Amino acid sequence: MRLQNLFIFILFSTFAATSLSTRAQRNEQLLEEGWRFTKGDVTDAATPGFDDSRWESVTVPHDWAIYGPFSRENDLQNVAVTQNFETQASIKTGRTGGLPYVGVGWYRTTFDTKPDQEVTLVFDGAMSEARVYVNGQEACFWPCGYNSFYCNVTRLINPDGRNNTLAVRLENRPQSSRWYPGAGLYRNVHVITTNRIHIPVWGTQITTPHVADDYASVCLRTSVENSGQKELTLVTEILSPEGKTVATKENKGFINHGQPFTQNFVVERPALWSPESPSLYRAVTKVYVEDKLTDTYTTRFGIRSIEYVADKGFYLNGKLRKFQGVCNHHDLGPLGAAINVKALRHQLTLLKDMGCDAIRTAHNMPAPELVALCDEMGFMMMIEPFDEWDIAKCDNGYHRFFNEWAEHDMVNMLRHYRNHPCVVMWSIGNEVPTQCSPEGYKVAKFLQDICHREDPTRPVTCGMDQVDCVLDNGFAAMLDIPGFNYRAHRYTEAYERLPQNLVLGSETSSTVSSRGVYKFPAQRKADAKYDDHQSSSYDLEYCSWSNIPDMDFALADDYNWTLGQFVWTGFDYLGEPSPYDTDAWPNHSSMFGIIDLASIPKDRYYLYRSLWNRNEETLHILPHWNWEGHEGEKVPVFVYTNYSSAELFVNGKSYGKQTKNNQTVENRYRLMWHDVVYEPGEVKVIAYDRNGKAMAEKVIRTAGKPHRIELSTPHHTLNADGKDLAYVTLRIVDKDGNLCPTDGRLVNFNVKGAGRYRASANGDPTCLDLFHLPRMHAFNGMLTVILQASKEAGTMELKASAKGLKSGSIQIDVKSLNQQP
Ligand code: GAL
Repeated sequence: MRLQNLFIFILFSTFAATSLSTRAQRNEQLLEEGWRFTKGDVTDAATPGFDDSRWESVTVPHDWAIYGPFSRENDLQNVAVTQNFETQASIKTGRTGGLPYVGVGWYRTTFDTKPDQEVTLVFDGAMSEARVYVNGQEACFWPCGYNSFYCNVTRLINPDGRNNTLAVRLENRPQSSRWYPGAGLYRNVHVITTNRIHIPVWGTQITTPHVADDYASVCLRTSVENSGQKELTLVTEILSPEGKTVATKENKGFINHGQPFTQNFVVERPALWSPESPSLYRAVTKVYVEDKLTDTYTTRFGIRSIEYVADKGFYLNGKLRKFQGVCNHHDLGPLGAAINVKALRHQLTLLKDMGCDAIRTAHNMPAPELVALCDEMGFMMMIEPFDEWDIAKCDNGYHRFFNEWAEHDMVNMLRHYRNHPCVVMWSIGNEVPTQCSPEGYKVAKFLQDICHREDPTRPVTCGMDQVDCVLDNGFAAMLDIPGFNYRAHRYTEAYERLPQNLVLGSETSSTVSSRGVYKFPAQRKADAKYDDHQSSSYDLEYCSWSNIPDMDFALADDYNWTLGQFVWTGFDYLGEPSPYDTDAWPNHSSMFGIIDLASIPKDRYYLYRSLWNRNEETLHILPHWNWEGHEGEKVPVFVYTNYSSAELFVNGKSYGKQTKNNQTVENRYRLMWHDVVYEPGEVKVIAYDRNGKAMAEKVIRTAGKPHRIELSTPHHTLNADGKDLAYVTLRIVDKDGNLCPTDGRLVNFNVKGAGRYRASANGDPTCLDLFHLPRMHAFNGMLTVILQASKEAGTMELKASAKGLKSGSIQIDVKSLNQQP
């Protein structure tokens, strides 16, 4: 057994030995450290005695492809993207991120259990076509790289329980994705040991059939395995968010024909779950057989009601609201697909401040950590499994497995996440080509029925883009909730023709922009391409199939029957570099994000924030004010604010007051001065409320010569757990602290003390600097450095230096868990 896993096991054993009443129950080990990895296929790699000492030592979660190098040749695709109305194949560079995810990879480790226990391995996600071997025998196969799966490996465990060899073979085919999928064991691997009679993985189902202010009823259905004809006693306590017992039940009975054991509870004056108040309860279930405790299982849940009412919209706990959601792919920018809770938390914190209240997991099953965080931090979720069904989008995509595996994948996804209050609907797919086939609705019905069978409490949608087909062929009419991707101009028609009398913006906007890049004049443009391979940040550029954000705001504002939207996307992701989704290397990451790949908000962030965050003031000016060479020329100025009007001054000269109005859809949501003449100096904005009262002021200035590096972070204290991260924002500033908004010099990093450099990124979709090397070019004066805490407490210091600038440094405290307040 490798040392680290041994350590976790001993910890558990000590705990178990001192706590008699819970002896020999459930134990869970995370297999994180001590893995060996190699790229390429190897015969005998599953054999216990195989010599893997020359393989690389890695920690799981691990993404083998994120270390690059980037190359135009990596998964170079020569395809016609039919969803984008292409009829002829053409070269698409960087479509999957230009990273080496294709190929076979092997992972090996060992783990210990105890004799005579049930042993189950749980993989939160393995990319992809996972073949799992225990002690040289194949234990299970799971093709979908995004889904969680488990296998009971009891029969394969060594008789003394010790030194079991776990080997996993993964294979990613070329042309299997439309974005960067990541590669390897990029999510957690768990070993669960239980008694023979136990609650299986995802073995409870909790619902709240009645929810009101005075009381809620809670129904818990528990599966128990291997109890045969034995009578069971189940004792369940319901714990409030504060940890107080608020209901208890003890019931006796049998598992009849595999039917779960049902217990009902009443919770008085429940604390209802909502994005604004994400209260979580726990049901702690103890299973007794012949008075012996055999298992304890905790189900976390929330109490809330959801209703989708024709012509009226979506109600959470009886209150009408529209989804202010974003779609996200699963990668974490410079960390790749390798899951990290702090990185997810950082993303959600930024989205929360923007006023976002919902996430769509495009276009696949999420990491369980994301769903848990959405419960805790208050985000509603639409969870989606597939980007294709039986008809291909990608030559080697999921269609190869759909007929045999779709139901297995749906069942795992539904059972895994149906107890989470954050999940408010399921999606069965995204823009699947099957939507236009005459029998397509049958496939949709097959998937929707599985959702209804496994979870009768939530409706089902599907992201549809072929409006003509789905309105005519019955596909859209069959769904619980019709979801449209783009095609804002067809919403009214869809509303009128469909029986649901509701329309969801399952995917909206796809506006493109590069942080800090501005093109003149500021004009609405589809598919605008420039020599520098960037897109303008005036937030008026989009793809041929998409639109500016303002149109989706208007749909939500103007029609009761719209349910709100999920913007494409919250964050930039690796791959799909539209509008440079052509032969346009080195572009290799998306430009759709409201926030860039370095987790730095673009201007668009403030446009959404000005509407969605109703509690905070937003007053944001764009562009920057360093336009050397453009003196005397027009440089449009936009202001994103929650206030209705504002006056603009350049070096004290007024350009007049603008008020939001209905002239064009942009005028409803932005304040714009198209005729500002550039002169270096100061741009000042004073914002007014509806009554003409001055409410806020903001100034930006032309920056002088680059002078120094400024570092800042919201993460001053980290846990000494070897995983916690600090996101440090680096700005190149002049001597007065103004951002130098066009600086792109190379910056070097040096980290000392209780942590290490983990990665950096600058948000430039054309930059090929490797994330894991301690140097990165700034992009428009900024970049992000990610530091990782060590396991020992202490202080970590980052020093950043660049030619011609005064260096910057920042210190982070790393505290051991028991030192934390
Ligand atoms: C949609 C698709 C997304 C993404 C987006 C880009 O049609 O569902 O996955 O490709 O377009 O605009």
